[in-house]
Amino acid sequence: MKLICANFKMNFLKENILNYLENIHEKINKDRVIFFPSNLYISDFKKENYLVGSQDISFKEFGSLTGETSIKQLKELGISYTLIGHSERRKYFNDNRYINAKVKLALKNDLKVILCIGESLKERDNNLTSLVLKKEIDEALKNNNCFNLNNLIIAYEPIWSIGTSVIPDNKVIFKIVQEIKDYLKNKYDLNLKVLYGGSVNLENIDKLENISNLDGYLIGGASLQPEKFLDLIRIIK
Ligand code: PGA
Repeated sequence: MKLICANFKMNFLKENILNYLENIHEKINKDRVIFFPSNLYISDFKKENYLVGSQDISFKEFGSLTGETSIKQLKELGISYTLIGHSERRKYFNDNRYINAKVKLALKNDLKVILCIGESLKERDNNLTSLVLKKEIDEALKNNNCFNLNNLIIAYEPIWSIGTSVIPDNKVIFKIVQEIKDYLKNKYDLNLKVLYGGSVNLENIDKLENISNLDGYLIGGASLQPEKFLDLIRIIK
């Protein structure tokens, strides 16, 4: 059974969240769908026993970091997962500098980490995809031997595919996912789940479902309308 992660990004007000919860009530398999709402609404999902994660964590547990949210505070709200390294965080918030610290902190605190990696269009066009992905994996995993790396899940998200409705060919996704799995196995002796993210929607899900080595999806825009999201989930094996 594939994992399905719903990344709401910075969308919704309280009223929308309550409507959403009403719409999905008793229609979701709570073992395989994980919601990543804004931190403000984590407890609303937790209250109804959904698996819930944060879209990010601060790189420190506590301290003078104005505007940040501590992993301890997020855990109090009920998260068991966190995204780390989403390309929007890397682009707008300089997250490349903090990935390693965030991964370590999350693993130390027994969270499951969805580590997002992916290449830009320019990198893809210059045949740098493999190199970029391996570099991002190495950076995230370095000096990490005291933590449980089996709590990592990789989300392969080509940056040029996020929010654009353009996705790579099935063959390309298959090849890259396999390369990621082989790299993790050979270099780190890890068998990790690999998800695909980037414009997953009702139009392309049947096609994506033919990719045999995928372990799930990270879904942004197509998770925002509950009825459509439910339709999408029904198709995913
Ligand atoms: P998208 O976003 O599904 O809207 O492309 C995916 C993501 O950013 O995780």
